[in-house]
Amino acid sequence: MRDTAHIVTIDGPSGSGKGTISRALADLLGWRLLDSGALYRLAALAAERERIPASDDSALAQIAAGMNATLEYADGVERATLDGEDVSEALRSERCGEFASRIAAKHGVRQALLERQRAFARPPGLVADGRDMGTVVFPAAHLKLFLTASSEERAVRRHKQLKQKGIDVSLRSLSEDIGQRDARDANRKFSPLRAADDARVIDSTRLSPEEVIARILPLLEAAGIGPNRA
Ligand code: DC
Repeated sequence: MRDTAHIVTIDGPSGSGKGTISRALADLLGWRLLDSGALYRLAALAAERERIPASDDSALAQIAAGMNATLEYADGVERATLDGEDVSEALRSERCGEFASRIAAKHGVRQALLERQRAFARPPGLVADGRDMGTVVFPAAHLKLFLTASSEERAVRRHKQLKQKGIDVSLRSLSEDIGQRDARDANRKFSPLRAADDARVIDSTRLSPEEVIARILPLLEAAGIGPNRA
């Protein structure tokens, strides 16, 4: 089934605009969406609820493999459940993102989530958002994109998002947290954050989401991908 699904991967650091662009592309193409970061966040939440320490690699891998979780995207809304409970909001906390980044450095956790991620690929197609979508999870993707933005811009974007949710954090501490998380994601031994050799890199620092999409459209066309061909 995987062979017949078109796949577009979008990798990049936090705040690069991956989430917004991935959702917009999935809507445009009428394809499924995989927010792989949400799977790492689900595993982190499951581990936290079971009080598994960040040092217990095998218990973490077991939780990631066996967690009773669902992840869906429909009508512009992402919904995640853990043991039947809607945890969509809980996943978005900085605390959950931080723990997710820690457990994402573990080989066993990454292996446990690999098949879960690949199972999202179904015809007509999948937009896969993450850190290693183009390098490890879907190396044969039809189009690989890597979104970047300056660290200042990424911190400002995240700050704005949190403010809209009524969460008050200082830009400076947010900036430090993002820096630490990026360093951990980029320097870890297994599947570090990096652009695939055949990825198209787009710097979104000074671009609106619409402008980023406008740059992607010709790339989709060149890759033979479009809503009519899906
Ligand atoms: O994209 P995000 O902030 O929701 O991801 C949370 C953490 O999960 C991030 O710090 C790194 C990790 N992650 C990963 O290692 N590989 C992915 N494909 C997606 C996320």
